[in-house]
Amino acid sequence: MKFENKTVLVTGGAQGLGEAISNAFAEEGANVIIADINGDGAKATAAKVAETYGVKAEGIAMNVTDDAGVGAAMDEIVKKYGKLDILVSNAGILKSGEITDFDVNVWRAVIEVNLIGYMVCAKHACRIMKEQKSGCIVQVNSKSGKKGSFKNSAYAASKFGGIGLTQSLALEMAEYGVRVNSVCPGNLLDGTLWKGSLFEQYAKNQGKTVEEIREKYINQVPMKRPCLYKDVTDVIKFLASDEASYMTGQAINVTGGQEMR
Ligand SMILES: NC(=O)c1ccc[n+]([C@@H]2O[C@H](COP(=O)([O-])OP(=O)(O)OC[C@H]3O[C@@H](n4cnc5c(N)ncnc54)[C@H](O)[C@@H]3O)[C@@H](O)[C@H]2O)c1
Repeated sequence: MKFENKTVLVTGGAQGLGEAISNAFAEEGANVIIADINGDGAKATAAKVAETYGVKAEGIAMNVTDDAGVGAAMDEIVKKYGKLDILVSNAGILKSGEITDFDVNVWRAVIEVNLIGYMVCAKHACRIMKEQKSGCIVQVNSKSGKKGSFKNSAYAASKFGGIGLTQSLALEMAEYGVRVNSVCPGNLLDGTLWKGSLFEQYAKNQGKTVEEIREKYINQVPMKRPCLYKDVTDVIKFLASDEASYMTGQAINVTGGQEMR
């Protein structure tokens, strides 16, 4: 019970990796607030989390790009739970495409959610944690935050920016006892994002079948398997724990060695 009575906010937690992160913290005794633009999904996931682990869990509707809305939601959390110990900035979107006909508004929307959304959530968490003189932020980044991604420029640019933000906030918050780190997962090929839209987006953009795309991405991994939610949640829990108390401003690869290729 490493996180007993800790208050953890997970953005984009209604489904996918965010849901797995919420479960992982609840399993260790944390109270979890699941914030998602899909408010109904967040509430449904929170109800399952509370029932499974017997912790407090609540789902709230939140658009991570809405500065005032995020600020008010975090103030409400502090009022209700007394503190905010951990923010996991996980909400993200991916719209891929060739640069030559990339709709600038779509490109901008990816930056808005993945980079500005992270800034907005981190801004309010830092405000609260600075006053508490404790706290920890973990951003869900990507291997595409360190290496360009084929026909996926908006996403890679948004994630590269996220690492700059993580390092800068780590510098700014160190004196207040607040740590800020990122985790950079590989391809979660069995997860909601790939199954929901990414296989199809890549198949279309790259002129391949879904099976060929899966094979291509598995073959890029020295360990020859997809990234699993647990691979990532284990590292997030470590970064958020006291065991990582001397780590800040880092962006940790969880890729089966893929970034070396
Ligand atoms: N799937 C992968 O292979 C992979 C790999 C590396 C990193 N990531 C990152 O992991 C994170 C989670 O992705 P996932 O695979 O679970 O995707 P997903 O699409 O299954 O889940 C993303 C969640 O974020 C929510 N969301 C989207 N926009 C939002 C907004 N403006 N405000 C609040 N919530 C919003 C969605 O409603 C959804 O519940 C993302 O940051 C993604 O970039 C994913």
